[in-house]
Amino acid sequence: MNRLDAAHTLLPKTWGPTKAAATAFAPVNIALVKYWGKRNEELHLPVTDSFSVALTAGSTTTVCQASKKDTVFLNGQCVDESSSFFKRASEFCNLVRPSPSFFFHISTINDVPTAAGLASSASGFAALTLACNDFFGWNAPKEKLSCLARLGSGSACRSIFPGFVTWQRGEAIDGADSYALPWNKWWPDLQFGVFLLSTHEKPISSRKAMRTTVETSPLYAAWPSQVQKDIQEVRAAISEQDIERFGTTVERNALTMHATMLTSSPPICFWLPQTVSCLHEIWEARRHGVPIYCTIDAGPNVKVFFPQSSAESIQKLFPNLHRIQLLSPIE
Ligand code: PMV
Repeated sequence: MNRLDAAHTLLPKTWGPTKAAATAFAPVNIALVKYWGKRNEELHLPVTDSFSVALTAGSTTTVCQASKKDTVFLNGQCVDESSSFFKRASEFCNLVRPSPSFFFHISTINDVPTAAGLASSASGFAALTLACNDFFGWNAPKEKLSCLARLGSGSACRSIFPGFVTWQRGEAIDGADSYALPWNKWWPDLQFGVFLLSTHEKPISSRKAMRTTVETSPLYAAWPSQVQKDIQEVRAAISEQDIERFGTTVERNALTMHATMLTSSPPICFWLPQTVSCLHEIWEARRHGVPIYCTIDAGPNVKVFFPQSSAESIQKLFPNLHRIQLLSPIE
């Protein structure tokens, strides 16, 4: 099944917009247990489940209108039609056009540096999906919207919800059961921050990096069963509000993902020298009893978790730490 057919099975028949413009918001999500590897590249179906938490800042707000031709604005600037950003947005529009002669004007405000490993494509495709739902009056259930967002970018399916979110890999060939669900617990004491070490575009797309890892890393065989164990462990740690259990599992999961990439042919390394220095500083702080734990995505930036009780001392120890509030599911 191709993406267009998959999208059409999800959505009601669209005759046209039900309003002049629709605006939607979606958060960035940070994977606590990562999605790394697809079982179907076309439909972005993952090999494993994954588990994330949403952020308040770094989100995307998207306005969707009709137009004479597809136009995309990012943070007020018209995006060049030859860019991969435009192509991905326009390809997504192909999935939801009421007719081939219907075009979109999409205006996106993104407050994270695009493609710097802060998962802006996830919030972007989730916001576009939610904007389309309103624009065309689909009133689609969240699971279907999560599936549609997944067709834009895998991790976007998790950005449909606030709080902790599970993306269940699903079994169906068409991906109908591969969507995200909110996990109904919250941990108000958990704090998050980013060491923004580089905002340059990443050297290799996560799509290509995943494919190379799955096809060539001798360590990848161990990844799926480790992910299942890590999800259970992270959930148990959240239920018990145990920062050490939570942090060590989250950190090890990210390092395991990067280990599979490093052992690919050719090797894939998203880290910069600053990334490694930052890791050493975090581990040094931990040796002195500071409860700070990291995760790293497909980029060089280091994200950390710590408890509220240590927030002040951690901010003093790391003045360049940029704190971001987690997005609670409780309104
Ligand atoms: O959804 P993509 O193709 O941007 O891949 C996301 C991959 C990671 O951020 C590294 C892990 C994750 O689960 O978000």
